[in-house]
Amino acid sequence: MSLTVYRKAHFNAAHRLYKEEWSNEKNALIFGKCSNPNYHGHNYDLEVGVTGEIDEETGFLIDLKILKKVIYEEVEVPFDHKNLNLEVEAFKTVNPTVENIAIEIYNRIVKRLDSRFDISVKLYETPRNFVVYTG
Ligand code: NI
Repeated sequence: MSLTVYRKAHFNAAHRLYKEEWSNEKNALIFGKCSNPNYHGHNYDLEVGVTGEIDEETGFLIDLKILKKVIYEEVEVPFDHKNLNLEVEAFKTVNPTVENIAIEIYNRIVKRLDSRFDISVKLYETPRNFVVYTG
């Protein structure tokens, strides 16, 4: 038997999608409004899933206080109210698309939790656009 526990979180962040080697016109064509040279913000909604076996002694799959702390330290502190391109090391070289942000969040969380868990990251960039990354 396995079960998944979820924890939701939220952060606001600014970004710009662009490739330096492309002209402003080509960037605007490919990335649309997300290529605005002056950056813009999104309200990101995050759902982190932790799948595994329930601990028979406690009845917990994972202590949610621990998951809350990991998400706070690895995602909310470094990303909330930040410019992702300028203030998050990973996005100085990688375009901060919702895909790449989800992968970065996954990598940060996986390294903090026991390897017996399977992690999933669902990240909404808008209420209708979201990605799921499971490694
Ligand atoms: Ni955008």
